[in-house]
Amino acid sequence: MDRVLSGIRPTGYLHLGNYFGALKNFVRMQEENNCYFFIADYHSLTTHPKPGDLRTNIKNVLVDYLAAGLDPEKCTIYIQSDVPEVCELALLLGMNVYVGELQRVSSFKEKVRRQPDNINAGLLTYPILMASDILIHRADKVPVGKDQEQHLEMTRDFAQRFNHIYGVDYFKLPVAYNFGENLVKIPGLDGSNKMSKSDNEASCIFLSDSPEVICKKVMKAVSDSGPTEAGQSKSQAVENLFSLMEAVSTPDTVAFFEEAYQKCEIRYGDMKKQLAKDITHFVAPIYERIITLRSDDDYLSKVAKLGAEKARESASKTIREVREIIGINYN
Ligand code: ADP
Ligand code: TRP
Repeated sequence: MDRVLSGIRPTGYLHLGNYFGALKNFVRMQEENNCYFFIADYHSLTTHPKPGDLRTNIKNVLVDYLAAGLDPEKCTIYIQSDVPEVCELALLLGMNVYVGELQRVSSFKEKVRRQPDNINAGLLTYPILMASDILIHRADKVPVGKDQEQHLEMTRDFAQRFNHIYGVDYFKLPVAYNFGENLVKIPGLDGSNKMSKSDNEASCIFLSDSPEVICKKVMKAVSDSGPTEAGQSKSQAVENLFSLMEAVSTPDTVAFFEEAYQKCEIRYGDMKKQLAKDITHFVAPIYERIITLRSDDDYLSKVAKLGAEKARESASKTIREVREIIGINYN
C-alpha cells in the first residue's frame, strides 16, 4: 500500500487549480492507499497572517477539503501545527542542507523579487519544512501541481543525503504524482497561465463561489478580439478558456468551440456562457457541501482531533527512528 501525502497552505479558499492540481487525484487515491492530507499552517506564516485570519483560513480549507471529497474515515486529515514532530525533523534535516542550494530555489527567488521587504528565514528554509512534511510519514507519492516539482526534487535530495550520510536506506524517495498523468496547470481567468490566489485573486474560481459569482467571473474573463484567419494560433487568454473547458466540459463541447474557432466563427460570449454553466455544474455539489459544513464546528473539531492523533502516531515513530539513526539515543 502506497503512502500518499499532500498539503495546501491556508491562505484563502481553495480554487479550481488547487482542486485539479492537488485534490482530485487525492480523493481517488484515498480508497486504496494510506493517505495523509494536511493544512500547511506553519508554511503560511511566511506571509505574516493576523491570528484571526489564520484561524478562519484553516477552517475554510478544512471545510473545502471535506466538501471536495476527502473522507476522515479513509484518510488522515490534519493541521500541520498539531504535529510538532515535523519541526524537529526539519531542524535535523536542515543540518545537511546548504544555504546556497536554498537560495537557488525558484520559488524563493521569485519571493525575493516580489516581496523584497519580507525575505524572512522561513521563506529560505521553506523546502526543508516541506521535505519534513513529506518524509515524516515516509510518503511515496505527493499529488501536487507542476509548480511544486522543484520542491519534490529537493525532498528527494535531502532524503538521499540523509541515507548516504548515515549509511542507511531509511527514507524513501517520494515523487510528485498526478495519477499517471502529466502534472496539470489550470490557467487563470485573467489571461495568466496559472490560476493562483497568491498572484491574483481575480484569476480564481473558488470551490465556495456561488453560481452567480461563477457566472460573473467567467463572463468577465479576459479573451481577445477573435481569430481573423483560419488556423490562427490562439492568444494565451483564449487558450486559457479552452483549457478550463477541457477540465470541466464534455469533449463534444470542447470540439464544438474548437471548430468554431478554427472557422473564425467563434463567439466568446457563447463560449463563456457554456463555460460558466459547466463550471457551475461541476462545482455545485462541492459548493452545497461547503455551505452545510461551515456551520458544523463540532464535526470539524472532531475531524481535526482524530487527524492529529493519527498523524502524530506516524510522525513520532519516524522521529524515534531518525533520532536512533543520528545517535540521539543516550538512554
Ligand atoms: P496558490 O498559487 O493559489 O497560492 P497554492 O500555492 O496554495 O495555490 O497551491 C496549493 C496546491 O495546489 C499545490 O499543490 C499546487 O501545486 C496546486 N495548484 C495551485 N494552483 C494550481 C493550478 N493553477 N493548477 C494546478 N495546480 C495548482
Ligand atoms: N508548498 C506547497 C504549496 O505551496 C504546500 C505544501 C507544504 C506541501 N508542505 C507540503 C504540499 C508537503 C505537498 C506536500 O502549495
